[in-house]
Parts: sequence; structure tokens; C-alpha cells
Amino acid sequence: MKSNSTHDLTLDCEKLPLHVAIIMDGNGRWAKKKMMNRVKGHEQGSQIVRSIVTAARELGIGTLTLYAFSTENWARPKYEVQALMILLKKFIASERKELLKNNIRLNVIGQKHKLTSDVQKEVDITMELTKDNNKMLLNLALSYGSREEITSAVKQIAEKIASKSLDPKDITQDLISDHLYTKAMPDPDLIIRTGGEYRLSNFLLWQAAYSEIYISDTFWPDFTRDEFIEILKNYQERDRRFGKVACNTSNDG
Ligand code: FPP
Repeated sequence: MKSNSTHDLTLDCEKLPLHVAIIMDGNGRWAKKKMMNRVKGHEQGSQIVRSIVTAARELGIGTLTLYAFSTENWARPKYEVQALMILLKKFIASERKELLKNNIRLNVIGQKHKLTSDVQKEVDITMELTKDNNKMLLNLALSYGSREEITSAVKQIAEKIASKSLDPKDITQDLISDHLYTKAMPDPDLIIRTGGEYRLSNFLLWQAAYSEIYISDTFWPDFTRDEFIEILKNYQERDRRFGKVACNTSNDG
């Protein structure tokens, strides 16, 4: 699905999504098409991460969440998992300066403790160094799975009930949100998936209740800043009703 707009890349700054989340899919197919190893696709993919983080920051998007490694991805061949860990480590270490310069805070959503110790180390250093940055929040979803996240929230809530620090009647949607990795963040306004598949793949299932979804056929390593802007334009043309009727619709006239 491509936006109808041609090459006008002007955005309405008043209507920017507060939170954009991206399922970066298609690295393997990109590499296969070029008769290369899948890892080459991930390498090229990490270059694109760089350019989209920069674009999001320049455009003024408050939160960007990137699905970089899922709880299911651990089941990939060992060499691929190792290559992804090395890429993540290199990316976080090499981008630290840029994140600081551009006032971007790095955060990880997911099972951080399951990552290799060298990735955890780079993550911890960078999260600490960037913790006061406030122009953009960059969330990397690493060893992330929405069902694991929700299960963990349910456990935390059950423990509070068992210890009598929470009354079941005080369980609200906000309370559940506060036990997710995305606590205190706005829900994603827009979820983009590259690579042409129409599914959420265990990504932000609770948070996606009213997200606009955009599927691009482009494989992630071919994704560009211009297509990103086109998608944001497409988002701005949508009528978000959150289950209600449009604001200019009235029954009395
Ligand atoms: C899905 O493509 C992509 C991943 C599992 C990894 C995403 C990783 C990167 C973009 C690079 C590293 C990330 C950062 C933040 C530096 P796939 O392999 O499932 O592609 P396929 O569906 O074509 O097989």
C-alpha cells in the first residue's frame, strides 16, 4: 500500500504522530533477492535505522519505537542471532555520540536481561548517558514480545494483590498500561510495517488498540526517508475516530 501523494513532502507539523512504531521486516528477502546471506540484509537494515532515527528526530516525532529483535527471533539459526547481537552492539556503541548530540534518549523495551552481556553493557551505558535527553525517545524493542510483556504485567499485578498492596477493584486500563514496558509513553499513533506482510507479529498488542497501521511493500533495507515522510503524510490524511463519529458530524442538522 503506497500513499497517493506524489513528491510533495510537506507535513503538517500540528498533526505529527506523537509515537511512531516500526516493524522493520524484509531484511532476509532483500538479501535473498540479491543472492546474499541474510546477515547482509540485517547489516544494510542497520544503516537504514540510522537514517530513519535522524529523520524522525528532525521532523519532531516524540517517540520512535523500532522492533529490532523479538522473543521469537531467538529461535533463528545461531549464526544469525549472533550476527544480530553484534550489529546491535555496534549500532548502540557507534550511535551514542549522535544520540547525545541530538538530545535523543535511548530506552529498551523487552527482556533486556536476556541479551548478550556485551549488548546489555552498551545499552546500559547509553541509557544512563542519555537519560536526561528530551527531544526524542528512541525505544529499541529487543527480545520483545507483547504476550510476554502482558504476562509479566499480569504477574506483577497478581503479586501486588497477593501482598494486599492492591485491591482488585482498583485494576483499570491505566493500571495495566503502567505495568507494561511502555509505561508513561503515549500509545503508538502509527505503526508501520515494511516487507508487505499484514500482521502485527506480537508487537505492542495492547498499545495498538487505536493505532493507525501502514503496510509498505518495501523491504526494510530499501526503506527511505522520503517514503517515511510519504507515510506520515498518508497518516495525516486519515480520519481517526477512536470508535466515535467524526467531529464535524452532527445529528441535529
Ligand atoms: C526482520 O527481517 C528483521 C529482523 C528480525 C531484525 C531487524 C534488525 C535490523 C533492522 C538491524 C539491526 C537493528 C538495529 C536497531 C541496529 P527478516 O529477517 O524477518 O526478513 P524476512 O521476512 O525477509 O526474512
